[in-house]
Amino acid sequence: MASNYLILCFLSISLSPNIMALRLPPISALYVFGDSLVDSGNNNYLPTKARANFPPFGIDFGGNATGRFTNGKTVVDFIAEYLDLPFSPPYMGLTDDKRSITITGINYASGACGIFNETSKNESCLAFYDQVELFQKTVDYDLRKKYNQTELNYHLSQSLFFVSMGANDYTQNLKKAIRNPDAFAWNLLQEFSTHLQKLYQLGARMFLVNNIPPTGCLPTFAYRTRPQGYCNKTINRLIASYNRKLPVILLNLQFHLPNSTFLHSNYFKFFLQLRRSARNYGIRDIWRPCCPNRTQGDFQCGPYSVPCRNRDTHFFFDIHPSQIVNSIYARRCFNEIAICQPLRRRLGVYA
Ligand SMILES: *[C@@H]1O[C@H](CO)[C@@H](O)[C@H](O)[C@H]1NC(C)=O
Ligand SMILES: *[C@@H]1O[C@H](CO)[C@@H](O)[C@H](O)[C@H]1NC(C)=O
Ligand SMILES: *[C@@H]1O[C@H](CO)[C@@H](O)[C@H](O)[C@H]1NC(C)=O
Ligand SMILES: *[C@@H]1O[C@H](CO)[C@@H](O)[C@H](O)[C@H]1NC(C)=O
Ligand SMILES: *[C@@H]1O[C@H](CO)[C@@H](O)[C@H](O)[C@H]1NC(C)=O
Ligand SMILES: *[C@@H]1O[C@H](CO)[C@@H](O)[C@H](O)[C@H]1NC(C)=O
Ligand SMILES: *[C@@H]1O[C@H](CO)[C@@H](O)[C@H](O)[C@H]1NC(C)=O
Repeated sequence: MASNYLILCFLSISLSPNIMALRLPPISALYVFGDSLVDSGNNNYLPTKARANFPPFGIDFGGNATGRFTNGKTVVDFIAEYLDLPFSPPYMGLTDDKRSITITGINYASGACGIFNETSKNESCLAFYDQVELFQKTVDYDLRKKYNQTELNYHLSQSLFFVSMGANDYTQNLKKAIRNPDAFAWNLLQEFSTHLQKLYQLGARMFLVNNIPPTGCLPTFAYRTRPQGYCNKTINRLIASYNRKLPVILLNLQFHLPNSTFLHSNYFKFFLQLRRSARNYGIRDIWRPCCPNRTQGDFQCGPYSVPCRNRDTHFFFDIHPSQIVNSIYARRCFNEIAICQPLRRRLGVYA
């Protein structure tokens, strides 16, 4: 096997088959695409209401409301720590000078947006299409200044492309998705696949792709179910149907795109498992958000709202998972093959 190319191997570090670590080659950069789960501040620079750049967001991030939609670090902040990289800065917040010297990865994610251009069109956030366009600018205007073609290919082949989106496409098109679940899922996946191929054409080779979380469990929906706090099964079933098809699409891409590797992250499964075992982690409330710290109302964590005192006891900070959940996710993604794993033919379809 070519030694300068990424080699994925798996090391059993204990007797239990459940505890196997995801071993990656040294990663030189982390490029991030997605929605509010991983936005690190891009929306601060866009004319959108979907923002988190005011307290109490960031209350556990040195008190800095950076635009991260949680109390502390996001999923990709923890992943950066695992990879020994600095947090990927938001593209929109970088000056031209900063952009041209940033070689450890950039974050293009944008809260409220998703895979379809039409999702949250009103919000002027960045859809996947726009995020890929910005990455193209990074390649053409910034990385090309720094690297010749050989070096550029090498840099990109050593970079991890983390992609996490699709939840907003569902929550904003629920009626359409309910009417024709399969057609909706396939359309969404086709669009998703188009943009992943564009990233590949620009030089991306190693992808870590999150599936869609069970959004039926978000406080806004759980509030309405009976018994209160249970997940909305109708919504979760729709998303499960998309998630079952996703590995098929990724496997197909991996097969057709030379040297590509797709790691699949079963965020959906992680999310439901953690809900069930939350108490083992000290998480006492699995659906009521920490901010606002009440069960009624619109679930908006407004500027200067008073959040709950101990954020670590809540699954949700607002309608987004709290830092402790993000931290457990990253740990389980890197330490348990059951959550994040490379696609292989026989593992292509998840139950
Ligand atoms: C928070 O902001 C302060 C002042 O800008 C800075 O010194 C500190 O490093 C920031 N903390 C984090 C966790 O980013
Ligand atoms: C998405 O929007 C861009 C322009 O912003 C356009 O070029 C592209 O064709 C659109 N994609 C689809 C599938 O409509
Ligand atoms: C988008 O904006 C239009 C006009 O302001 C409004 O009628 C519509 O309800 C908005 N759509 C969403 C999803 O907010
Ligand atoms: C690119 O730069 C490297 C040195 O870093 C050099 O060895 C190589 O020949 C260059 N390749 C091209 C195509 O210019
Ligand atoms: C679940 O969500 C669907 C779609 O929004 C809605 O029609 C249904 O009433 C919800 N079910 C419950 C139990 O809230
Ligand atoms: C695949 O990797 C090999 C070995 O590093 C390299 O020679 C080849 O150009 C790569 N092909 C593509 C399309 O990336
Ligand atoms: C909830 O917010 C109120 C102020 O709105 C505050 O007085 C109270 O201490 C908060 N409750 C918790 C559990 O933090």
